[in-house]
Amino acid sequence: MTLVSMKDMLLQALKGNYAVGQFNLNNLEFTQAILQAAQEEQAPVILGVSEAYIPYMGGLPCIAGMVKALIEHYGITVPVALHLDHGSTYEVCIRALHAGFTSVMIDASHHSLEFNIDVTQRVTQAAHVIGATVEAELGRITGREDDLVVDDADGMYAVSEDCVALVNATGIDCLAPALGSVHGPYRGQPKLGFERMEEIQKLTGLPLVLHGGSGLPDAEIRRAIELGTSKINVNTDNQMACTATIRRFLNENPQAYDPRNYLIPAREAIMASVQAKIRLFGSSGKAGGS
Ligand code: 13P
Repeated sequence: MTLVSMKDMLLQALKGNYAVGQFNLNNLEFTQAILQAAQEEQAPVILGVSEAYIPYMGGLPCIAGMVKALIEHYGITVPVALHLDHGSTYEVCIRALHAGFTSVMIDASHHSLEFNIDVTQRVTQAAHVIGATVEAELGRITGREDDLVVDDADGMYAVSEDCVALVNATGIDCLAPALGSVHGPYRGQPKLGFERMEEIQKLTGLPLVLHGGSGLPDAEIRRAIELGTSKINVNTDNQMACTATIRRFLNENPQAYDPRNYLIPAREAIMASVQAKIRLFGSSGKAGGS
């Protein structure tokens, strides 16, 4: 199956009351594990690549090429979108689309609303010409975004009127309003703004995106989905599953040196972690739509 945009998968998810997982790529093993988990679960899936990982994984063409080759190698038949996560500029979004990504997030949430609207509008116009989808953010999702620590308690909840203005002016395909979720491990009890979530979804009519999907109680995930969250981003939980497996193996086998000895079990742990999220999000068996 060739890569697809997020458009149909998110509209089907909104209609069918489930969410599609965005799982972030960290390296080859993550990509293999996520694709195989989605295929095993017969679930649509979004592969997220955040900006800091572009140089780490050898550049955008290398990432797009690796994903396409693995889809062919494993005979993946479920819908797969390749999505730039937290693109910070117009330029990086266009470079991702040019390399073969089918979806981009333009994250100008730390700029003024006017600037956010302007750059999101330009990215959306360009992406839609080639049938790619666009996600935008409003408010600040705190915590750790790659190597950047974001801490802004005031901006943690997006303003409904700003969301309507951004959506109406730009024609984006889905919206990530900051509603109290954080990237990375939670410090204390998460407080998601469910009332605001419901209001924003009703006012915009768009599929909503929940960032910081790791470490949230299952009940909060289910409530978010009921209120129109159709895409949930997860990275930290998969990273923790991977690293715990490697740590355990190396502690028990200090003489080991062949990377396959610890990377194969690590890949299996990532796959199990992704499959558990897919089931929780209700997208298992939804490869053909809702
Ligand atoms: P976590 O790492 O907290 O799961 O967040 C992932 C994310 O939101 C990527 O955009």
